[in-house]
Amino acid sequence: MKKILVYLSNEKQPSLFDLIVAYDSDVDVVLPFGNITLEDITSMVHGCIFTRRPKKLVNTAILFGGNDSDLADDMMKKAKKTFFGDFKVSVMADPDGNTTTSAATVAKIKDVLGDMKGMKAVVLAGTGAVGERVSVLLHREGASVILTSRKLEKAEAVCKKIEEKYGRDITPLQVSTDEECMKALEGAQIAIGTGKAGIQLMKKDIWTKNPTIRVLADVNAYPPAGIEGVEVADDAKEVDGKVLFGAVAIGDLKTKGMRDVIRKMYEEKGQYMDLERIYDITWESLEVKKERYEKGDTIM
Ligand SMILES: NC(=O)c1ccc[n+]([C@@H]2O[C@H](COP(=O)([O-])OP(=O)(O)OC[C@H]3O[C@@H](n4cnc5c(N)ncnc54)[C@H](OP(=O)(O)O)[C@@H]3O)[C@@H](O)[C@H]2O)c1
Repeated sequence: MKKILVYLSNEKQPSLFDLIVAYDSDVDVVLPFGNITLEDITSMVHGCIFTRRPKKLVNTAILFGGNDSDLADDMMKKAKKTFFGDFKVSVMADPDGNTTTSAATVAKIKDVLGDMKGMKAVVLAGTGAVGERVSVLLHREGASVILTSRKLEKAEAVCKKIEEKYGRDITPLQVSTDEECMKALEGAQIAIGTGKAGIQLMKKDIWTKNPTIRVLADVNAYPPAGIEGVEVADDAKEVDGKVLFGAVAIGDLKTKGMRDVIRKMYEEKGQYMDLERIYDITWESLEVKKERYEKGDTIM
């Protein structure tokens, strides 16, 4: 029986990136739908769960994409509520690639630092979807997390949302000048740039002079770099005693992790691939990748 992936997006055009990754994940057929609203979910889910015998539903899965992260999460929750008894399929939400990108970023950092308990992490311009998710995962790894914005009220609003949505306690902070940035990083071991593409958030001077920073990661792939001095291809590159990760290195693991999550959806029906589950699988992907590299194999 063919493996079918139903791809639901609020955008007019479903993401080609996601569709291609789905085919690269051994899915036989992808059925993309754009302009999907929350109201459409119940009938779309019925279309998925009533067409194949319950035992065969392991061959059907739904990926929620689009450009509205909260909406995609709500759609996935609504799909889960629509399932009953044996009538369920696996679901995953990765709007704009934000969830897999955040998972890959924190997995890379964990790979260097291990246990993050007692560490301070600063998520610069953390008010977007990636910053929100990165903050949640760093907190899960035990770090105390500062989420910054150019406006304190905006950082406060996002931290409040994180508390309500994920039950994670993140500290909001205003960072709109070099001085504020320098102060925010005092005593921190981890700094991550999660700002809008092509926006510089931190000058190189600030992190090279900071004595405690051990790892820097920047998810922005467009010049100028979000963190000056971090190159997109940096993959655990050491500079001035600090370990750097750039957007392309993070993106490689993101794509690998996404493929692995999609493949796993077909191992058992009814799986719920939310942020934390996607993170766990991405971490496993990193471990497998390392093992295969050690054997001289390539992964991509
Ligand atoms: N590598 C990958 O595979 C991948 C996948 C997805 C996303 N990304 C990248 O991840 C990054 C974050 O994505 P996102 O969607 O979460 O970001 P976003 O919502 O576009 O922006 C995040 C934050 O950047 C700040 N910002 C916006 N304009 C700014 C300006 N002119 N000056 C200074 N700060 C500004 C804002 O924070 P405040 O207003 O609160 O200051 C905003 O909330 C982007 O660079 C994106 O390209 C990478």
